[in-house]
Amino acid sequence: MREGTAPLIRREDYLSPAYWIRQVDLTLDLDAAKTIVASKLTIERNGQQPAQPLRLHGEDLNLLRVLVDGQSVSFRHEDDMLVIDAPAADQFVLEIRNTIAPEKNTHLSGLYASGGGLYTQCEAEGFRRITYFLDRPDVMAVYTVTLRGDKKKYPVLLSNGNLVEQGELDGGRHFAKWHDPFPKPSYLFALVAADLVAREQWVRTRGGKDHLLQIFVKRGDLDKTEHAMNSLIASVVWDEARFNLPLDLERFMIVAVDDFNMGAMENKGLNLFNTKYVLASAATATDADFDGIESVVGHEYFHNWTGNRITCRDWFQLSLKEGLTVFRDQEFSMDMAGSASARAVCRIADVLRLRESQFPEDAGPMAHPVRPDAYQAIDNFYTSTVYEKGAEVVRMMHTLVGREGFAKGMSLYFQRHDGQAVTCDDFAQAIADANPDSALAVNLALFKRWYSQSGTPHLSARGQYDTAASTFTLELSQANPVTAAQPNKLPQLIPVAMGLVGRHSGQALALQLEGEAAPSGSHRVLVMTEATQRFVFTHVTEDCVPSLLRGFSAPVLLDDGLTDADRLVLLAHDSDPFTRWESGQKLALGRLLTALPTGTLELDEPFVHAMRGLLRDPSLDPAFKELALVPPSEGYVAEQTTEVDPQRVHAVRESMVQQLAARLNEDWAWAFAEHQVREGYRPVAEQSGKRALANLALAMLVRHAVATGDTVWPGRAYQRFKDASNMTDRLGALQALVNAHAELAAPALERFHALFRHEPLVLDKWFMLQARAPERDGRVFAQAKQLLKHPDFTLGNPNRARSLLMALAFFNPAAFHRADAGGYVFWAERVVELDAINPQLASRFARALDRWRHLAEPYRSAAREAVARVAARTDLSSDTAEIIHRALQ
Ligand code: ARG
Ligand code: ZN
Repeated sequence: MREGTAPLIRREDYLSPAYWIRQVDLTLDLDAAKTIVASKLTIERNGQQPAQPLRLHGEDLNLLRVLVDGQSVSFRHEDDMLVIDAPAADQFVLEIRNTIAPEKNTHLSGLYASGGGLYTQCEAEGFRRITYFLDRPDVMAVYTVTLRGDKKKYPVLLSNGNLVEQGELDGGRHFAKWHDPFPKPSYLFALVAADLVAREQWVRTRGGKDHLLQIFVKRGDLDKTEHAMNSLIASVVWDEARFNLPLDLERFMIVAVDDFNMGAMENKGLNLFNTKYVLASAATATDADFDGIESVVGHEYFHNWTGNRITCRDWFQLSLKEGLTVFRDQEFSMDMAGSASARAVCRIADVLRLRESQFPEDAGPMAHPVRPDAYQAIDNFYTSTVYEKGAEVVRMMHTLVGREGFAKGMSLYFQRHDGQAVTCDDFAQAIADANPDSALAVNLALFKRWYSQSGTPHLSARGQYDTAASTFTLELSQANPVTAAQPNKLPQLIPVAMGLVGRHSGQALALQLEGEAAPSGSHRVLVMTEATQRFVFTHVTEDCVPSLLRGFSAPVLLDDGLTDADRLVLLAHDSDPFTRWESGQKLALGRLLTALPTGTLELDEPFVHAMRGLLRDPSLDPAFKELALVPPSEGYVAEQTTEVDPQRVHAVRESMVQQLAARLNEDWAWAFAEHQVREGYRPVAEQSGKRALANLALAMLVRHAVATGDTVWPGRAYQRFKDASNMTDRLGALQALVNAHAELAAPALERFHALFRHEPLVLDKWFMLQARAPERDGRVFAQAKQLLKHPDFTLGNPNRARSLLMALAFFNPAAFHRADAGGYVFWAERVVELDAINPQLASRFARALDRWRHLAEPYRSAAREAVARVAARTDLSSDTAEIIHRALQ
């Protein structure tokens, strides 16, 4: 659709469809230039709606014929819809024949070509780009799909469900017929026709059934599928063990494709994946890549129940499946990580992600509730609010009803709704009904404000110790900020997990609230339901520091009112690793914010001492140390200020890192030596933590060396880069050189490119690393512009486009926000260029400037001008137009 003025679709306007489609019989004659689609639909009138013509979605289709019960009928096109005067009969068969041109489909939505193969992506509204349909998730049908195509070009023909027939056809062609017994919405339809090979594995589920797991990749990539297969097997086992949810299919297939807009897609029985989340070997993938694969494989597999068996009634309910499934994949990754401290590291990483992307979203023009109220292009609402904040909402339910209670709630949810298309309300109701005495059930309406109100609540806490009375009084208050489209906010239910830590003893104190007969442990969850609440702890034997929002028990901005001295107590003694980490981050953040007005920072000894203590603490995990020793990102620091000067933020943070590099120089050298992994590479937490800390240490050592003119550490880094036996170490060493702007960075980059020029996923890293390097004198931006012309760069491949464009605009504020507005000009040109190719990708990239109002001058005016320039175009896609116009509102 090339029109910026697509209508606004509202949640409150939901009506069930006028017709149901019960059965779909599809036959596709596959050809990249022209594919013929024959569809035979068994349709039923929905008695709940008045009689009306049948209106089917269709986009970029070439219609050949329409038959109703074998007879030709009259039809017309009305705003992108095919309107057919349906017969009076309650049930009829509609036959449609149309053609499509996959090789011209650069949107990568619907049926498209990638490499020599054909692939589909139908969520959210891609099925209408294959054939005319009631393309909405509440219309669920049983599909039978016959695929026909050239046997040489497309030796593998796949669709959802079970293979029921296959054979030869004339002219070097062949066919395969698939049947999926589960009724499903059209967004879960998939097909693949390509020249692929598969890794296969049989698994037996607890019921004693055998299931075939297959991972399809291009020839030559099979040796990079072991980790994905292990992750898939682990997912099957985990979902059965943790939630009693078994694999319900005879075969479960994953197909990896090079050109893919998102991470992956949970089509029933036939998941399609971005190669980035399938292919990994020690030589080509980092520890983070291995973790990403495990989590995305888990995520898509878990959708089989939360998303596919129970799906969404309409797209406003997207978080019903996405929030819940992100929660599930996070829990899976934590369970896989093992130790308590490895779990904490996972949790910190999840919180970092939420705060980096969702908090800014919730404070900007794209702010929307977890269950949005209106949209123009649904693809714009696959957001971190729907996904990550949605997962936090599910996590809060989990916190309020406990692990057992949550499992009971999940069973009730499936008992009630299996096979249905439902709403977020249905989910919350099931969890509450299974736990009638819980704080969730008692305050359900209040809790559900998390679904309806946008914006990040501000929680403020003030504590007071009364020596004479031996009491500690904690006053909590919440403020719910005004956001786009929501002027009036009500208090939300906020679970505050907490404890009290003795100021002198460092001990966890027993917790007994006023009116309680006895203490109940040293950790508890306070349930806040009002704007302001007071909690009085009695029998508190010593002055203490409150440890609040442990494990990040609610997605809020916490003003804890603590002093540096308080934070040092928590950093040293708190039993909760999240709060411990957060205390260190707040110590750093406070210093950065204080330094912003002047632009100069001089690190104080207590802070340096505390950081050294962390680094040297033998009781802490290396992975935790790495997270704790990296100061808050420039983006996060910027979030805490009202008028952002990205150059100032960059300068101050760089100065902090540089000083930590200098003043802990010997400690970094010690850490580097101490955390070498001697045994063979395995992508497991105990090894990856060491690698992460060693890489951080190396980066600090090289930084300091470059600053002081010393050549020893850069030389060592270069050597390590050359000799590395795995990508994590190799990339770590390369990054140390590049980020420090060392002279050896250029030869290392050149060598890296030569080594990996045939590995697309590694080349992505090569582009990304350069686009994300800390800016110095405009060199990084100049290099990024240069890379745009590199023969290996293309906007046609989403991973490649992201590795340069998103890396620069989202993750390198100082290179992007330039006083000369060069970054904004670059942005505007790319948005327009990309929009003509791939609107979904363009609208993502467009969001890089949606918070222009938050910037200080001269950035603010220049950014606004760039946004306005794009807005002035009349040929924007509705995806990009929605983002751009919201940004200007
Ligand atoms: N459901 C997919 C997932 O697992 C993502 C699909 C995204 N589609 C889109 N058009 N944005 O999260
Ligand atoms: Zn998902």
